[in-house]
Amino acid sequence: MMFKIGDDLRQDQLVIQIIKLMDQLLKNENLNLNLKPYKILSTNPIDGSIEFVPNLTLDKVLSEYHSILKFFQENNYDEHEELKVKSHVMDRYIKSCAGYCVITYILGVGDRHLDNLLISLNGQFFHADFGYILGQDPKPFPPLMKLPIQLVEGMGGLNHENFKIFKNYCFTSFLILRKNSNLILNLFELMIEANIPDIKIDKNRAILKVKEKFCLEMNDEEAILHFQNLINDSVNAFLPMVIDRLHSLTQYWRA
Ligand SMILES: *[C@@H]1O[C@H](CO)[C@@H](O)[C@H](O)[C@H]1NC(C)=O
Ligand SMILES: *[C@@H]1O[C@H](CO)[C@@H](O)[C@H](O)[C@H]1NC(C)=O
Repeated sequence: MMFKIGDDLRQDQLVIQIIKLMDQLLKNENLNLNLKPYKILSTNPIDGSIEFVPNLTLDKVLSEYHSILKFFQENNYDEHEELKVKSHVMDRYIKSCAGYCVITYILGVGDRHLDNLLISLNGQFFHADFGYILGQDPKPFPPLMKLPIQLVEGMGGLNHENFKIFKNYCFTSFLILRKNSNLILNLFELMIEANIPDIKIDKNRAILKVKEKFCLEMNDEEAILHFQNLINDSVNAFLPMVIDRLHSLTQYWRA
């Protein structure tokens, strides 16, 4: 455990509780995405304790190993696998990436950069620091989908079978969470008067912002297509023809 002084952890605690709830809803449908809702207990508005989870930041992994794939290959080598990474490690990585991709999209988690995206040696990927949610962001042009290309490269890249598997996990979990949207929205509703900073900004629109993300007016096929388009927009922005978006997106991932 770490005791943190000087930070209001109430919003972080709420986000972690919602991730935990979503994780449970997915597990109820036999989908374990290896998420890591590490424990947070806010003791008062300026301090609280956080469970310590051994991790490396993506920034550190990329600067030391140059890519996530190389990081896995050095720490979890398996000569029999095509990508030379132990299959259970790759599996855990793909699943956790998909889970956080869907959840951070629904919650509109902002201020993402390579220092608050964490990875464990066993392949588990997770987000930390939820000081900005519901579309709030200290930086301009936040993408809707928080999927840096480096994560996709860690699976073998855009053309690798693993990226398809990743997308399928995203679609399945998006559909499961949509089915349970009432429960999730009710939880937000209960938090309206709880002084959570990003809900307080606009109490009336807070629930609506989450609701919009579920695309409840769409049927399942349309919702999958919608999600597919968001992923496409996010990764295609790195193709050379869209220099402007490329610039704002690469800027976005800088700390
Ligand atoms: C991740 O590791 C860093 C450095 O060891 C630590 O400061 C941080 O609190 C850890 N994050 C979590 C969520 O445990
Ligand atoms: C997303 O991109 C892939 C490859 O670039 C393409 O095959 C697919 O049709 C695109 N999907 C949508 C919904 O635009």
